[in-house]
Amino acid sequence: MTIPIFTAFFFLSPLFQLGSSSTNINTCRSFCGNITIDYPFALQYGCGHPGFRDLLYCMNDVLMFHISSGSYRVLDIDYAYQALTLHDLHMSTCDTIVLGSKGNGFAVETWRAPYMNPTADNIFMLIGCSAESPLFQGFPGKHLPCRNVSGMGCEEYYGCPAWDLLGHKPLGSKMFGSGPPECCALSFEAIKSINLTKLQCEGYSSAYSLAPLRVDGPNGWSYGIRVKYSVQGNDEFCRACEATGGTCGYGTDGIRQLCMCGNSNSTSNCDTVKSSSSRRIYSVADTLAGYVIYTL
Ligand SMILES: *[C@@H]1O[C@H](CO)[C@@H](O)[C@H](O)[C@H]1NC(C)=O
Ligand SMILES: *[C@@H]1O[C@H](CO)[C@@H](O)[C@H](O)[C@H]1NC(C)=O
Ligand SMILES: *[C@@H]1O[C@H](CO)[C@@H](O)[C@H](O)[C@H]1NC(C)=O
Ligand SMILES: *[C@@H]1O[C@H](CO)[C@@H](O)[C@H](O)[C@H]1NC(C)=O
Repeated sequence: MTIPIFTAFFFLSPLFQLGSSSTNINTCRSFCGNITIDYPFALQYGCGHPGFRDLLYCMNDVLMFHISSGSYRVLDIDYAYQALTLHDLHMSTCDTIVLGSKGNGFAVETWRAPYMNPTADNIFMLIGCSAESPLFQGFPGKHLPCRNVSGMGCEEYYGCPAWDLLGHKPLGSKMFGSGPPECCALSFEAIKSINLTKLQCEGYSSAYSLAPLRVDGPNGWSYGIRVKYSVQGNDEFCRACEATGGTCGYGTDGIRQLCMCGNSNSTSNCDTVKSSSSRRIYSVADTLAGYVIYTL
């Protein structure tokens, strides 16, 4: 008895999809290389959440993230934890230190700021900042804002091979007590914008720890920028839209959210726009479903 019922469902499921496909194929979901692009992100204008428009670009299967401070490669999008992992080509790591202010740092447009922020356990290590840097507020010897973040810090970072190549001597900064530190670490929260030009720094590194795993030593840190994203609590619109078979997007103003329901767009969800023709398809599918179950 269980087998025929299972078979019935097996045959019915494509039927239901057929019934609904005329009104709602998700034309917004896509891939770039092996990364899935889904709400609130999108590659096409009009798809996704407006806070994330003009943000991602796919070039030769490489996903790029573009904000006012520059372009970053996206290594991963974690939809469950709502986090992105980015890599900046000119970011220092444990193996190389890139000077000459080539790195992007991290700064987003004001209108976009509410939607994304580096995570609290992401450390930014600013390298070679001038004594006049606003970072030190006139007290370069005090290292005012510099601190450890999530068990990571500059003292440990100095242990990386990259510093040996620079001829770094660990006690150097202590001998010149009035000078700025060679490396000053902080969280994004402390200054809200990592702008190497404004901060007068030569370079930077960024690392994050995926708590609660504590990796010992700077060689084991994950280098990259971990960014937390959020649609700021207005998730209900998209949930209701998807629940009625729609795809979430936004209007040409780039602000207003839209629910795309096949041949028409709705400012609420697809139940409000279902045409009589789509209802007819549903009822045909329902009738067929009833017929198949009845004959079994
Ligand atoms: C994508 O592929 C690369 C190797 O080509 C791999 O390192 C990475 O983990 C993959 N990412 C995902 C999200 O599967
Ligand atoms: C619905 O909105 C999308 C995104 O703004 C747009 O591309 C599409 O043309 C609209 N469709 C209709 C039928 O208005
Ligand atoms: C960084 O700071 C410089 C100098 O203050 C400014 O001209 C530039 O627009 C800033 N860049 C970003 C991305 O905010
Ligand atoms: C950071 O932690 C190290 C030990 O891991 C410690 O020696 C150092 O003083 C700490 N730095 C700050 C600024 O708290």
